Amino acid sequence: MEFFLDTGIVDEIKEAVDWGLVDGVTTNPSLIAKSGRTQEDVIKEICSLVDGPISAEVISTDKSGMLKEAEQLAKIHDNVVIKLPLTIDGISACKVLSDQNIKTNVTLCFSANQALLAAKNGATYISPFIGRLDDIGHSGMGLIEEIRVVFDNYGFPTQILAASVRHSDHVREAALVGADVATMPISCMKSLFNHPLTTIGLEKFLADHKKASL
Ligand code: E4P
Repeated sequence: MEFFLDTGIVDEIKEAVDWGLVDGVTTNPSLIAKSGRTQEDVIKEICSLVDGPISAEVISTDKSGMLKEAEQLAKIHDNVVIKLPLTIDGISACKVLSDQNIKTNVTLCFSANQALLAAKNGATYISPFIGRLDDIGHSGMGLIEEIRVVFDNYGFPTQILAASVRHSDHVREAALVGADVATMPISCMKSLFNHPLTTIGLEKFLADHKKASL
């Protein structure tokens, strides 16, 4: 499973890159707004830090506007992946971009049918938002399972990118049901290291070592 960091904050990316765990980065307009910088600046800097897929989202809601933005974003770096919303215009733009071998990430996916549309039009990634589904009492993980079955039934190469990941259990479950990628905030990535028995065990080892060396 690949790990992407879901952020527009460059310092967070630097920190997690140092752990050796960052395969790529996803951003969205809300995350870019939090950075207080322009999308172009942020994406350029991220591309200099991570040699992997970097998702940058279009703001336009019409197909031709999306394609114009995609052209500009794709010029930033070869690793830029164009993030498109799951609308008729977004899915139509996805077809045009995938025919040009430009990588795409179709975002705001909340159903297996939506994922099927993105896969049929050649999306590189589909982003089911599991946390937001859980928030409204639906099963985010159930959606990942359904998409896995649909893609395997037909051999679609579109990668399932588990998004809106909120905690370590989301990562564990997404890995168990076969998501290809999980994108997560740095706090979630950090939490994957934690187990109380690791902490207690290490404290005991160090205490025993100290006693023995007296
Ligand atoms: C994914 O690409 C999105 O940026 C993100 O995962 C959304 O997560 P949220 O629901 O926590 O905002």
